[in-house]
Amino acid sequence: MTDPILNIHNLTKRFGGNTAVSGINLQVMPRETLAIIGPNGAGKTTFYNMVSGRMQPTEGTVELNGHDITGLKPHKISRMGVSRSFQINNIFPEMTVRQNVEVALSAFHGYSRKLFNLASGNRKVQEEADELLNRLSIGELSSQRAGIISYGDKRLLEIAVVLATRPKLVLLDEPTAGMTPEETRRVTKLIRSLADSGDYTFLITEHDMGVVFDLADRILVMHRGESLAVGTVEEVKNNPDVKKAYLGEDEDDEDGEKEAAV
Ligand SMILES: Nc1ncnc2c1ncn2[C@@H]1O[C@H](COP(=O)(O)OP(=O)(O)OP(=O)(O)O)[C@@H](O)[C@H]1O
Ligand SMILES: [Mg+2]
Repeated sequence: MTDPILNIHNLTKRFGGNTAVSGINLQVMPRETLAIIGPNGAGKTTFYNMVSGRMQPTEGTVELNGHDITGLKPHKISRMGVSRSFQINNIFPEMTVRQNVEVALSAFHGYSRKLFNLASGNRKVQEEADELLNRLSIGELSSQRAGIISYGDKRLLEIAVVLATRPKLVLLDEPTAGMTPEETRRVTKLIRSLADSGDYTFLITEHDMGVVFDLADRILVMHRGESLAVGTVEEVKNNPDVKKAYLGEDEDDEDGEKEAAV
């Protein structure tokens, strides 16, 4: 049997009296796409912060390919093949699209910031940046200033930056948030093709259930920091606890399924 790429045991984060993530157990298999859903404040980003090393867990362990990475610094975890995007757009607006990727590539290849200019003149780095940008369908924008490209293209650029470190495990935090339906379709399709390439294992937090159902092999439903359910799309859709909490069979959900889309 294949070993999991990620093995999470009892992962917990408390902020004072507030338990943001509570006793999560989860195994993620290589090349799987796992969506993490749950309403605002459910603990999704905090979960990412612990997996990627930005936050120390209060309790619990994170194993990557059988190695305990709990509490390691983010750059160490990144070196081990984990890369993440942020919920908020995180690119350098004054640089060109290609330079944004080159900065990430340069850091990955061990060039210091001072050497960035040298690195960006490096043909190999340029080619690698172009290849990534093409893969994300924004190759034709490479000479544009990143600040002026469309919102959807910025989010794609962010994914290119995330992939520059050649990760095995990619954590995307709401990759389609704030997008038009057209942009959402485009980004979903691209993530689908990256997932299908077999090069990556994806964790994706999303509020748009269309995207989740389209991309996810399995879904983790978080609710007030806890794992409410884990399973395939069908299993989660039919889970009575999930239905009760999210799918319009409870309290204040005037917008029905859409709002329930958490
Ligand atoms: N640095 C922090 N200090 C204190 N409390 C925090 C911190 N980060 C998150 N929290 C709290 O932890 C809980 C979970 O927040 P988190 O951002 O992980 O939720 P989320 O599921 O990502 O929500 P959203 O869908 O809005 O992005 C919330 O109650 C939040 O206020
Ligand atoms: Mg979040």
